[in-house]
Amino acid sequence: MNPSSELHVVRVRAVRRENPSTVTLVLPKTFEAAPGQFVMVWDVGGAEKPFGVSRQTAEETSVTIRAVGPTSEKLCALQPGDAVGIRGPFGTCFSVAENALLVAGGVGAAPLRFLAETLRQKNMVPRWLVGAKTADELCYPDEADAVATDDGSFGEAGSVVALAEKELAHGKYAVVQACGPKGMLRAVKALAEKAGLPAELSVERIMRCGVGLCGSCALDDGRCACREGPVLRFG
Ligand SMILES: Cc1cc2nc3c(=O)[nH]c(=O)nc-3n(C[C@H](O)[C@H](O)[C@H](O)COP(=O)(O)OP(=O)(O)OC[C@H]3O[C@@H](n4cnc5c(N)ncnc54)[C@H](O)[C@@H]3O)c2cc1C
Ligand code: FES
Repeated sequence: MNPSSELHVVRVRAVRRENPSTVTLVLPKTFEAAPGQFVMVWDVGGAEKPFGVSRQTAEETSVTIRAVGPTSEKLCALQPGDAVGIRGPFGTCFSVAENALLVAGGVGAAPLRFLAETLRQKNMVPRWLVGAKTADELCYPDEADAVATDDGSFGEAGSVVALAEKELAHGKYAVVQACGPKGMLRAVKALAEKAGLPAELSVERIMRCGVGLCGSCALDDGRCACREGPVLRFG
């Protein structure tokens, strides 16, 4: 059996509330993942949904989940000791490289947190920006290097894309790595192009078949987020 398709039913070790709609579930480690990869989390007896790995240590794997619908709401209500299923890892990963600018919007900060920690553990020095519409939607503001909120309720007022633009004007970067809503990713891709840098974007699309057949997750350039992603390289 492909190790990724093996379902592990585990007990939640800890729950950390990131903001009013988002929690991090800390689970026992059942496989090795790379930053950017995702896992399928099963609400036992219910549905299974994809979530990025937000941290991995020698013993634990964390996922950060925003409650947006029935399954994510149930997963966000789990308590330490509750059972949950996990399968993975799946998909492509970010490159682990020096001089990276990391740009995250909302819960898109989840896979970038794993990347930022991995880079720092290897003594690389990324610049990690997080943003959200309001303070109530921010993830890990204390772990990032700079924070922006659209309404100015935390950090700099404005979008995280504007923060990234300022960084690119002054800093020396080799790659831009981002995860967040579609519009934000489009803007970050344009910034990277203008700066002559490659962009690695983690694209989250609604996935149906998961194997590149239905077109539900297709990008403008014909690539499928399920088969060739979630992390796609441009430039
Ligand atoms: C590769 C990948 C990684 C992901 N990583 C994370 C993560 O780390 N943390 C996190 O909170 N969420 C993540 N998501 C999104 C997460 O899978 C959905 O929020 C979840 O499936 C919602 O399930 P639900 O049953 O609660 O709600 P549903 O009823 O399925 O959806 C609720 C609403 O969210 C929208 N929605 C659902 N999935 C997506 C999606 N993939 N893209 C855009 N809109 C969507 C639906 O259109 C609907 O409006 C990821 C998705 C993918 C594909
Ligand atoms: S989910 Fe069907 S093509 Fe990607």
